[in-house]
Amino acid sequence: MLIKEIKLKIFVAAILKKGGSDSEEAQIVADHLVRSNLAGHDSHGVGMLPFYMRMLQADLLHPNQKPELVKADGSILMFDGLRGYGQAVGKMAMEKAIEKCHESGLVLMTLRNTHHLGRIGTYGEQSIAAGMVSLHFVNVTDHPPLVAPFRGSDARFSTNPICLAMPGSQKQPPVLLDMATSCIALGKTRVALNKGEALKEGLVINYQGQPSTDPGVMAGYLFPDRSDNPPLGALTPFGDYKGYSLALFCELFGGLLSGGGTILPEHPRQNSIINNMFTLIIDPAKLVDIPWMQHEVEAIVSHSKASPPANPEEPVLVAGDPERQFIKTRQTKGIPIDDATWKQILDGAEVLGLSKTEIQNLT
Ligand SMILES: NC(=O)c1ccc[n+]([C@@H]2O[C@H](COP(=O)([O-])OP(=O)(O)OC[C@H]3O[C@@H](n4cnc5c(N)ncnc54)[C@H](O)[C@@H]3O)[C@@H](O)[C@H]2O)c1
Repeated sequence: MLIKEIKLKIFVAAILKKGGSDSEEAQIVADHLVRSNLAGHDSHGVGMLPFYMRMLQADLLHPNQKPELVKADGSILMFDGLRGYGQAVGKMAMEKAIEKCHESGLVLMTLRNTHHLGRIGTYGEQSIAAGMVSLHFVNVTDHPPLVAPFRGSDARFSTNPICLAMPGSQKQPPVLLDMATSCIALGKTRVALNKGEALKEGLVINYQGQPSTDPGVMAGYLFPDRSDNPPLGALTPFGDYKGYSLALFCELFGGLLSGGGTILPEHPRQNSIINNMFTLIIDPAKLVDIPWMQHEVEAIVSHSKASPPANPEEPVLVAGDPERQFIKTRQTKGIPIDDATWKQILDGAEVLGLSKTEIQNLT
């Protein structure tokens, strides 16, 4: 099915309110999830709702939390997310950090113990909107590991994402790198499973450490209650030892320096998702002349794109371009949601107390 952005936001906010969120939180989380779908990242969009609903019922996700300031020391701000919706707590922590960065030019913000932060690019977009540069390193805990280290054969890390954000100019949109350190995010195997599609080679290994194209090797993580899951496999890190090492630094920066902890087996694993984020925000005006910076961004992007495409149908892009393309298309045509995902969302909405009539009126 295809659904319009506005309609989907209203429906998602209604579900979140039934889950106990106040209007402000429901709006922030709904906006974040729907924007992830708009940007083409269905893995971090509204398809996450059934998982969030399970977490609410298990008391592992706590609505209506505000980031708690643990420490403010010079340019350092440390927050605890109190297991709140990451999308809301993360947005608020970023607002505080950006406000401080306007004075100090540089802020190191850590946010620990927040429930799923969602699409990390959202926080890069927040910095960009304020004219700031930012770097984000995130680890994932309270969840079994999903990603094998390079040369390993079982899962030891999560999909630990990294985001790097650089403002653009009037002519050149921002450059926004937002990526999992695994070849693909776990949610992409959920999307493939729900659509009944195979994965490309090199993205997952089976329980024996052998390459596989079956997204089912990850089903045990996604649907732990199902009895017919094959033995657990693992996602592979992108770029062999390079991606694996960046995942390790997400543990060291995001997990360790935030005080939230790494994915070590001795730390709790309750089948929930806790994110810990290490963020550096920089006001580029403290470093360089802004018109010159904008000219250089425009020029270096044009320089990259001037490379003749190896395949004429695939021009050179920069990070952020694919998402912009998706947003343009999906804002016009609507957001596609596969039947299995939609059914999981509707079932979850009913469990939270939305009646069939309410659902019909909202969708
Ligand atoms: N909260 C969490 O715990 C968590 C964990 C993992 C991933 N995530 C999120 O999952 C989402 C998906 O991550 P992903 O790694 O699958 O994304 P992806 O592989 O689709 O894209 C990664 C990056 O590559 C860029 N890109 C894509 N094609 C390009 C091209 N041809 N040229 C230049 N750049 C190009 C994109 O703009 C993007 O910045 C992200 O939003 C990430 O934040 C979140």
